[in-house]
Amino acid sequence: MTKKEFAKRRQKLMDIMGPDSIAVLPNSLVHPRNRDVDFPFRSDSNFHYLSGFDEPESVLVLIPGREHGEFIIFCRERDLDKEIWDGYRAGQEGAIGMYDADDSYPIADLDDILPGLMEDKEKVYYTMGNQPAFDQHMVGWLNHLRQASRSGKHSPTEIIELEHCLNELRLFKSSQEIKSMRYAAEASAKAHIRAMQFTEPGKFEYEVEAELIHEFMKHGCRSPAYPSIVGGGENGCILHYIENNSKLKNNDLLLIDAGAEYQCYAADITRTFPVNGKFTPAQRELYQIVLDAQYAAIEAVKPGNHWNQPHEAAVQVLTEGLVKLGLLQGNVDKLIEDQAYREFYMHRTGHWLGMDVHDVGDYKIDCTWRLLEPGMVLTVEPGLYIRDPEHIDKKWHFTGIRIEDDVLVTKEGHEVLSADAPKEIDDIEALMAGAR
Ligand code: GLY
Ligand code: MN
Ligand code: MN
Repeated sequence: MTKKEFAKRRQKLMDIMGPDSIAVLPNSLVHPRNRDVDFPFRSDSNFHYLSGFDEPESVLVLIPGREHGEFIIFCRERDLDKEIWDGYRAGQEGAIGMYDADDSYPIADLDDILPGLMEDKEKVYYTMGNQPAFDQHMVGWLNHLRQASRSGKHSPTEIIELEHCLNELRLFKSSQEIKSMRYAAEASAKAHIRAMQFTEPGKFEYEVEAELIHEFMKHGCRSPAYPSIVGGGENGCILHYIENNSKLKNNDLLLIDAGAEYQCYAADITRTFPVNGKFTPAQRELYQIVLDAQYAAIEAVKPGNHWNQPHEAAVQVLTEGLVKLGLLQGNVDKLIEDQAYREFYMHRTGHWLGMDVHDVGDYKIDCTWRLLEPGMVLTVEPGLYIRDPEHIDKKWHFTGIRIEDDVLVTKEGHEVLSADAPKEIDDIEALMAGAR
């Protein structure tokens, strides 16, 4: 991402904010994992979106029209002793030199400086509720300003949700963002291919997970975008299964939901394939229904269609398929109306995708599904999950299938960013046979 891109995003936000305003955004906290060990730090997505600055203990401030600079970063000071242990710090000079901040102050001075930056503003853009400790500071500073207003000083009159403005900006991806997302999806597709080539009966789910991580890392994606789901057989029916510690069995399916994060952008791909490389007739029938549902849903991704149309298309094909196989009985329209499919398909067909795997952005505007527009990216992920209900033939028991792709809305329709990961039955079987 270029510095110009970050500057453009800040400008867009400041245009929305207007004059007499200030935005305050603290970065994420470092979370302890266990004694002396922290989880790897990941910047708050909004913080990274506006700055590319990825150090903990930092606060970003935007003040449209400020004479001495609109973009301010509070961050840690350089400290050679600490840097020897914990790594490089940009410091105030780096924040200005490398990240184009107009001004930068030590984070330790926040309490002294920030109230002064807020005092002559009408509107404060800040999101309450994300960080209770920082909320307390904000409340303290604002109270202090209010008290001072009794002696004739000005204090802000409006607190406005910062996140909501940013969500709308983040929903529409720029060409640079799309490039990163395409890269994340391509690296992830390679990981799924590697997993298919590696898988065979007797291997453990975590061994397959290791192959995914290897391929992510090899492509510079240092972290999965979310914990990988590697579920064989009945584990494929647990939607958020992440134990990944079972032995893979002959004649079972393996469901893998795994995507890499690249430059803070997520891929989110699911593939389901036979552990031994060959679908059984029963698996084939169910799989083809999910695949057809996915194709129908992807076809519905185009400008002018509303958010729910891909879901409706998937539900139609899934329900028709379930009736054809005898897993549901009755009239298709009535079954859809009654949501009978929910016994086997209990989640929705997708979500926005971006810096967060379940990315930001409203799905409805004024209580109606919003229209799809070029630059939006969403997942399309129908599935069928059949545990062991008594009324269902045993041949279907413990079959979990999901097929998930990442789809960009384009002017002409859509582009499937994750298209490199095979999903046709013949392609999967040929790939797996070739690896043996
Ligand atoms: N990987 C999470 C999801 O598919 O929504
Ligand atoms: Mn998803
Ligand atoms: Mn997923």
